[in-house]
Amino acid sequence: MKYVKIIGTGSSVPDTILSNSDLEKMVETSDEWIISRTGIKERRIADKDTASSDIAYEAAEKALKAASVNPSDLDVIIVGTITPDFLFPSTGCVVQGLLGAKKAYAFDLMAGCSGFLYTLHVAQGIIKSGAAEKILVIGVDTLSKVTDFEDRSTCILFGDGAGAAVLTASDEPGILSSILNSDGRDWDLLYVPAGGSRTPINEEVLKTRDQYIKMEGNDVFKVAVKSMESATINAIQQADITPEDIDLFVPHQANQRILEAVRKRLNFPEEKVFVNLDKYGNTSGASVPLALDEAIRQGRVKEGNLVLFAAFGAGFTWGASVVRL
Ligand code: ACO
Repeated sequence: MKYVKIIGTGSSVPDTILSNSDLEKMVETSDEWIISRTGIKERRIADKDTASSDIAYEAAEKALKAASVNPSDLDVIIVGTITPDFLFPSTGCVVQGLLGAKKAYAFDLMAGCSGFLYTLHVAQGIIKSGAAEKILVIGVDTLSKVTDFEDRSTCILFGDGAGAAVLTASDEPGILSSILNSDGRDWDLLYVPAGGSRTPINEEVLKTRDQYIKMEGNDVFKVAVKSMESATINAIQQADITPEDIDLFVPHQANQRILEAVRKRLNFPEEKVFVNLDKYGNTSGASVPLALDEAIRQGRVKEGNLVLFAAFGAGFTWGASVVRL
């Protein structure tokens, strides 16, 4: 075994659509402002009875079916999420229970919107060490649960979703490179202040609305463009390929202007960049695997193609990876 290969993907989004015109009725904004500043037209919102594990489970079942793998064959389940069902137990364990993946061990990994790339990297390391053969990785978030729908600077951006991939040890090329970075100095430019051990939820928190996402959008924007560009260049170098070899760039779907800035800096043609943020907004940890699954199911990429991932998120965390499907 020399490689770690993706052998099946799946995704799931809640049914409820929240359009820009719906948001016009909730905060002082306009469809025109949202589209011109972000490219987002609508996003999916989980209902009050739906948690991250529910859509993660649906995505996982589809990925297992696509990979022709039984839950009982899984050695490990890793869930990248910043909106777990509970503080504990992990959403990974909840999903494991739903799947009946008895042999596996499961855990969560928190890396914001880079969550899926972190799960890929960790899963690759476990498989290459020989400690596991088949791993299910899931990127899932229900950011609507921590979004302040009175804050127009954030509530227009986020949506809910899940994406999953089954990885296996393989003699054929799969993950060719994986670059991860983080920089914890500016963690407070994008965070949820309350609900953890620093500030548990109390009456004061509810008054200040600190249970919701706080973000310095302009600062985040600048770091996003620079970090995705540098990680992408490093991932292409580590894979020992040229940018022209890439069949499809599947970036984190944060904002059309961020994607456009990264695309131009890397000189990628528009048709080689996969975009679905118009339909889903920023689904955080789900963004890359949801886009990958759609790209595969739409026939934009097929087995043997080279795909480039790049992501950026809270922490800050960022990374990129080149994968042969
Ligand atoms: N509708 C109308 N006006 C708005 C809205 C809105 N929804 N939101 C902000 N504005 C106003 C502001 O109040 C401001 O008005 P002012 O000039 O009178 O003060 C004006 O629009 C410009 O605001 P900016 O914040 O400068 O707008 P900008 O062009 O930077 O766009 C945005 C804001 C879309 C948030 C952008 O900064 C962005 O996309 N940043 C990156 C965010 C991101 O990707 N975060 C996720 C990271 S991943 C993760 O881990 C979750």
